[in-house]
Amino acid sequence: MTAPPRSLRARRSCHAVPGSNPRFLDKAQGLDSDQVFLDLEDSVAPIAKADARKNIVEVLNTGDWGTRVRTVRVNDWTTQWTYRDVIEVVEGAGANLDCLMLPKVQTADQVRTLDTLLTQIETAMGFEVGRIGIEAQIENAIGLVNVDAIAAGSPRTETIIFGPADFMASINMKSLVVGEQPPGYDVGDAYHYILMRLLMAARAHDLQVIDGPYLQIKDLDGFRRVAGRSAALGFDGKWTLHPSQIDLANEVYSPLQSDYDHAENILDAYAYYTSEQGGARGAVMLGDEMIDEASRKMALVVSGKGRAAGMQRGDVWSPPRD
Ligand code: GLV
Ligand code: MG
Repeated sequence: MTAPPRSLRARRSCHAVPGSNPRFLDKAQGLDSDQVFLDLEDSVAPIAKADARKNIVEVLNTGDWGTRVRTVRVNDWTTQWTYRDVIEVVEGAGANLDCLMLPKVQTADQVRTLDTLLTQIETAMGFEVGRIGIEAQIENAIGLVNVDAIAAGSPRTETIIFGPADFMASINMKSLVVGEQPPGYDVGDAYHYILMRLLMAARAHDLQVIDGPYLQIKDLDGFRRVAGRSAALGFDGKWTLHPSQIDLANEVYSPLQSDYDHAENILDAYAYYTSEQGGARGAVMLGDEMIDEASRKMALVVSGKGRAAGMQRGDVWSPPRD
């Protein structure tokens, strides 16, 4: 079984696994996350990176990942590790890999460089050229300033990802608790601008947009609260660092059942009323609500998220009998 095509991949929960820990790499295969990313970057100590590459190649080739999106996070281009990460992982397991995640992206050129290297490896190895996607993680001020160009940097790019911990450090935010409001800031959400900026760049370029980690792994209410903010804005999913966060992420980034049913019903009713049989009308009442073409577009978003999450319809609308 392989992951669905790019545009249909749900990424409500993106589970992070350190590449240096074979036990966690094995365990991750049984978890109910939409995506798994095997890490070579900040969760792996410098002296453990060479072994982590080998562990990751092995587990990608021999593991059972079902339909999960299989991603490896390489080190960023300012380090000495990136080229070897990409070459070893893609040469060794490129046929069993869906995406590479590039952290701390600062410019579109960094995405293009990764694209070029991937194309060379795919060509040399006889893999389908362009199949492996790129996930661009924005983790500093320069990356955010350049996010539109980064989002447009390569046709391989599938997601824009927020890296809150590195980002907070990059802007000197006066806090040590990732994702929570910095003490003293009592006039709104300190992350609102950043989240919105990432969301606009992603939507403008038809990419998914994923929120980063919540490090207080025992605080599930905190996870729900912080995830709920980016989900409400329109983010597609969030990283999970512990299995207990996965079900929560799957729930928070899925529509409520009542909203999913309502969206499907708007689509059915609108299709009926705009047809000849339904009177070829563009604006009609559905219950107490007027629906038109814009309602259809909003409903498509909610139904798309519900379908990608495998939701089933409960209450189903049917046309009036004459
Ligand atoms: C993740 O990489 C982060 O910096 O939050
Ligand atoms: Mg980071």
